[in-house]
Amino acid sequence: MAQRAQGKRIGFVPTMGALHAGHLSLIEAAAAQYDLLVCSIFVNPTQFNDPKDLERYPRTLQADVSKLLGSKLHYLFVPDVLEVYPVDFQPESFDFGALGQVLEGEHRPGHFDGVGMVVARLLRIVEPDGLIMGEKDFQQCAVVGEMLRQMGWQERVALHVVETRREAGGLAMSSRNLRLSPAGLAEAAHIYNVIQGCKERYQQFTPDQLSAWATHSLDTGQHTRTEYVVFADAVTLRPVQHWNESPHVRVLIAAWVEDVRLIDNALLF
Ligand code: PAF
Repeated sequence: MAQRAQGKRIGFVPTMGALHAGHLSLIEAAAAQYDLLVCSIFVNPTQFNDPKDLERYPRTLQADVSKLLGSKLHYLFVPDVLEVYPVDFQPESFDFGALGQVLEGEHRPGHFDGVGMVVARLLRIVEPDGLIMGEKDFQQCAVVGEMLRQMGWQERVALHVVETRREAGGLAMSSRNLRLSPAGLAEAAHIYNVIQGCKERYQQFTPDQLSAWATHSLDTGQHTRTEYVVFADAVTLRPVQHWNESPHVRVLIAAWVEDVRLIDNALLF
């Protein structure tokens, strides 16, 4: 890229489209640090362990383009599957160890292998100086950080993790929210209340007790089924049994509301 030769620094925001204010905040964060902003929209088939989830994933390219036209983005990359994965494509393989096996790794087998495959591939195509990702997918950010280390790219590409954007009621912004009914949307906001409740209560309970409280509280919702509420070391994501096991603990939640799987997380301390 000629622009790179002129010393311009490139910030890259990979997405799967169905863009919302959370994605736009990633672009804003990138604009504060980089000269040239690139965003990709690619619904990556290799990271969906459930074919129905892939089929139902919202695709809203026209609306996405309109939103991006009002942003500071310079380049939009919308590859098709063969461009990302040509027939002779040799995937890079990474070993995320325990980081890739807990939480989402446990509940969505193969998910992080697919994320690693596509993010490594996109990075090799775009060759950015910075990669900007959202904290809602906290484990994904940790896995991508590990992937950069294994690629030997941790000096070459800076990973920026941007705070989760929330709706007025606290629901973490997600493309998947588009699939919720108004009743489901209202109920999904309770995930945030439960996160706040965990922050308020953790000193009075063990992690197991608090997880049981949070699960029960979520499951009182008519349309909600909790998949996990886990308290984990904020760096390794290893679940903790006692608060004193880690200097910093996060709560990480996955729950189904209607037929939509939502995740959220926050730092407890
Ligand atoms: O977070 C996402 O939208 C996706 O997992 C990503 C990082 C774009 C890879 O497909």
